[in-house]
Amino acid sequence: MTTTLITGANKGLGLETARRLVEAGHTVYLGSRDAERGRVAAERLGARLVLIDITDDASVEAAAKAVEADGGLDVLINNAGIEGTVIGPEDSTADVLRPLFETNVFGTVRVLHAFLPLLKRSTAPVVVNVSSSLGSTTLVATPGTPTHGYPGVAYPASKAAVNMITVQYAKAFPDIRINAVEPGFTATDLNGHRGTQTVEEGAEIIVRMARIGSAGPTGGYFDAAGSLPW
Ligand SMILES: NC(=O)c1ccc[n+]([C@@H]2O[C@H](COP(=O)([O-])OP(=O)(O)OC[C@H]3O[C@@H](n4cnc5c(N)ncnc54)[C@H](OP(=O)(O)O)[C@@H]3O)[C@@H](O)[C@H]2O)c1
Repeated sequence: MTTTLITGANKGLGLETARRLVEAGHTVYLGSRDAERGRVAAERLGARLVLIDITDDASVEAAAKAVEADGGLDVLINNAGIEGTVIGPEDSTADVLRPLFETNVFGTVRVLHAFLPLLKRSTAPVVVNVSSSLGSTTLVATPGTPTHGYPGVAYPASKAAVNMITVQYAKAFPDIRINAVEPGFTATDLNGHRGTQTVEEGAEIIVRMARIGSAGPTGGYFDAAGSLPW
């Protein structure tokens, strides 16, 4: 039985990923920072609720202890993330970038750090970091790509950092399959439902990389169609 934690799984891509992995037979810990939203989602799916605010040390530590006490973890999906208002270089300040880095970058590292001891005890440990094509320096710098026209600074910079974290952790822990994924532009609360894909389509690559097992790739960056340039 594979045991999987998904952060930010009370809605959007995380919720759909949880639904699919429950269906695939995983024991799913549905991470939510809000008790009531999480309870409703977990009950609906037959998942186990884990309260986890990834910006809070005590919350993440408590979540790791709860999952450990319950038997451990095989798959960690770092899905929780925010985009915030899209603000260009002229008006970007440290204060504009800070909340994005607190959640998308420092939150991801905080969760990795807390759950690494559990993952190391798994026979087939896997980490999926939910990134974005906006984290690809190559694509954002290439005219003609959909990402080139995105004017904001904070979100792409935070996801580029997630990509680098993915590479460095994958090299450091070769026994753990650690990959970054780009779900694609998906209609969720994150973008006011302007995304052109459904959550079913967006969750596809997250679910696929969660299920790669010990023979799968590591240190990669994928969307549903294949590898992406960093
Ligand atoms: N939608 C897209 O087009 C798209 C494209 C590329 C990448 N992504 C990435 O996909 C991931 C999921 O996004 P989504 O589109 O599904 O957005 P969403 O519907 O807004 O869901 C985001 C989830 O993250 C949670 N979250 C935010 N801050 C958190 C924190 N500090 N601690 C714990 N949970 C927190 C939210 O919880 P609350 O309900 O409590 O706010 C929510 O459950 C994100 O990493 C995003 O960057 C999305």
